[in-house]
Amino acid sequence: MSDFFADIPKLTYAPDAEGLAFRHYNPDEMVMGKRMEDQLRFACAYWHSFAWPGGDPFGGQTFDRPWFGDTMADARLKADVAFEMFDLLGVPFFCFHDVDIRPEGESFAESRRNFEEIVDIFAAKMETSKTRLLWGTANLFSNRRFMSGAATNPDPDVFAWSAATVKLCMDATHRLGGENYVLWGGREGYETLLNTDLSRELDQMGRFLSMVVDYKHKIGFPGTILIEPKPQEPTKHQYDYDVATVYGNLKRFGLENEVKVNIEQGHAILAGHSFEHEIALANALGVFGSIDMNRNDYQSGWDTDQFPNNVPEVALAYYEILKGGGFGTGGTNFDAKLRRQSLDPEDLVAAHAGAMDVCARGLKAAARMLEDDALEAPRRARYSGWEDPQAQAMLTSDLETIAARVEAEGLDPQPRSGRQEILENVVNRYV
Ligand code: GLC
Ligand code: MN
Repeated sequence: MSDFFADIPKLTYAPDAEGLAFRHYNPDEMVMGKRMEDQLRFACAYWHSFAWPGGDPFGGQTFDRPWFGDTMADARLKADVAFEMFDLLGVPFFCFHDVDIRPEGESFAESRRNFEEIVDIFAAKMETSKTRLLWGTANLFSNRRFMSGAATNPDPDVFAWSAATVKLCMDATHRLGGENYVLWGGREGYETLLNTDLSRELDQMGRFLSMVVDYKHKIGFPGTILIEPKPQEPTKHQYDYDVATVYGNLKRFGLENEVKVNIEQGHAILAGHSFEHEIALANALGVFGSIDMNRNDYQSGWDTDQFPNNVPEVALAYYEILKGGGFGTGGTNFDAKLRRQSLDPEDLVAAHAGAMDVCARGLKAAARMLEDDALEAPRRARYSGWEDPQAQAMLTSDLETIAARVEAEGLDPQPRSGRQEILENVVNRYV
């Protein structure tokens, strides 16, 4: 046991408590036929909570953590503290990148050995902890070797390095019983078209992804492969721009039945979409997988990775998720970091606790809207004309037949209100 969270007791559901507690997140409460914990499937992100030093573009480290350093002893202490926080929060899942958990070695082999030693420690801890692995992933964007991309790099040796790294991370994810494996195309994109062979890079990306899928089947990994879309940052143009773009690429590579998406709220906003739009589209295309529940600052326009704190927004996201049948292997990952002035261990726990409460409120509101048929009844009414057999027949008909019918029957379509404000008022009664 470290003493990092020494003064902080394990959190419980205690709506009237004074200090740190859950006011809305009650893991055992039933929501639409499942325990709340099993609906929300919360995960903590190792990188922001334990590896991020608090820097911004104008200044470096603000956090002073006893495990900051590049020795294996630091990495072991970090693992202890991480599992202590998972336990305090009672979260069912966590997520990590290779570089979050181990020091970089002098060679690939040394980094691999460092990584595997910590993965062994995780495996041992997970024998007694309730926290499981939602997803593993590889960081193919921080080290300078990846500055021109990973799978899309002009240098084939970087492609090779990336392949070896993903293999290693998939092996670890499989070993730890991870439910998904995530690929976020960190620097898969370009800074300028002047030096970029876009067509070649897209082909490389497709081949790489096919290899990942092949390897998943080879090792019998039962989890889901997920791509996390993002439109810009770090590169000027990211190839996995948004859900629609990822789907187009998957179709082109023939992988649309093999790969799903991990949708991040902040990335959706950067792409000019709402979070619920991206989730609804992924459900419509049959590729919804998981979410990263962290928002951006609407004024600054950066990817600020803040903990969620807007119940109405979160409610609309969970509405689409519940409407689509809820999570399968996915979950709610807090890919969120503290603000850099939030120095204390208590800040880290409070940030997660508050975010879990916000999500719980959003989930409950979403479930009530569905159970009351509050939005689905008016939606069905809006499309009810399509229940007419003649309307259905039109969908398998042709332009000439339809055109003839318009004149023969003297059709005269009458516009009807879309009732947007009335529906917004309905939502407002629930959130
Ligand atoms: C990086 C990205 C984050 C993504 C994660 C996993 O940390 O910033 O959005 O979820 O990698 O690939
Ligand atoms: Mn993310």
